[in-house]
Amino acid sequence: MFESLIFAMERSAAKAMPAKIEIRNLSRTYKKRGSRSELFYALRDFSLSINEGEFVTIVGPSGCGKSTLLDTLVGLSKPSAGEVLIDGKALKGPSLDRGIVLQGYALFPWRTVRRNIEYGLEIKGAPRRERAEIAQSYIKLVDLVGFEDHYPYELSGGMQQRVAIARILAYDPEVLLMDEPFAAVDAQTRETMQDELLSIWEKTGKTIIFVTHSIEEAVGLADRVAVISRAPGSVREVVDVSLPRPRRISDVRNTPDFALLHRHIWELLQRAGETPAEPPGGGAQGADGEGGAGGAGGAESVGDKILPDTVI
Ligand SMILES: Nc1ncnc2c1ncn2[C@@H]1O[C@H](COP(=O)(O)OP(=O)(O)OP(=O)(O)O)[C@@H](O)[C@H]1O
Ligand SMILES: [Mg+2]
Repeated sequence: MFESLIFAMERSAAKAMPAKIEIRNLSRTYKKRGSRSELFYALRDFSLSINEGEFVTIVGPSGCGKSTLLDTLVGLSKPSAGEVLIDGKALKGPSLDRGIVLQGYALFPWRTVRRNIEYGLEIKGAPRRERAEIAQSYIKLVDLVGFEDHYPYELSGGMQQRVAIARILAYDPEVLLMDEPFAAVDAQTRETMQDELLSIWEKTGKTIIFVTHSIEEAVGLADRVAVISRAPGSVREVVDVSLPRPRRISDVRNTPDFALLHRHIWELLQRAGETPAEPPGGGAQGADGEGGAGGAGGAESVGDKILPDTVI
């Protein structure tokens, strides 16, 4: 009780601080295929302010510009209009204080699991022994002990994703940008990793922006959920998640508050005509309706993002 009070005070102090990331009227255009001059907007007039130490999740229909947003925040993609400020300064390009877990795994195929995880530490100049120790602790965390010397092609998709997550955590940037990091892992591992991520976040106070197609994951993890409109992406609504902290998704997912938030976000997305036909169920809705074969609705298809009711 006392601990959660202190925790709440720390969190609200963090919220009073100036924005860690300020996205102002960001637009990103791409050339239309087959046209020399015609452009289309992946993001249009996108504004969002993220506080230091905040955990913000982003949901929105496929193709609404979520990955484009993260690529822009990490400095891999240039804004066509608008600006991004990090700690009050205009974003100039990639930097060591922002780490990204990309959609897809983006591992180095020529490096083993261990050496992939050590990569960021090498860039930082960490001594060999320290690298090995840190890498091993994250290998343990993501349950890949015994696979240290395997190459990515020898791993399943979910295992590769876990390596990608371990790599970013080992590298320890201030801001974590995560693009559907748990989409390819099985339901049980997903839950373990969600809990681990929450616990790491609680301990380290990192700022996290986390893209997901799962409403349950979005609500369960976040301080706020940014709901993005259909392309061109802009912020439809930012939903405050005032569920208690420290939090584990399994502790909150059956609560009435969780169900209300879940329904609200589902409705926002449905209004855009982007969710599957099944409405959310009652208060316990979402308990197992995502992330794999255990889903309440049965079949899933990660490719086109049509999943049981909790997943858009
Ligand atoms: N490098 C690029 N060149 C041209 N078009 C691009 C490029 N990157 C993204 N796009 C387009 O921008 C739009 C937004 O893409 P983006 O990958 O950001 O969507 P998303 O919200 O991440 O989708 P998903 O949920 O399926 O991952 C899409 O129409 C996509 O085809
Ligand atoms: Mg994407």
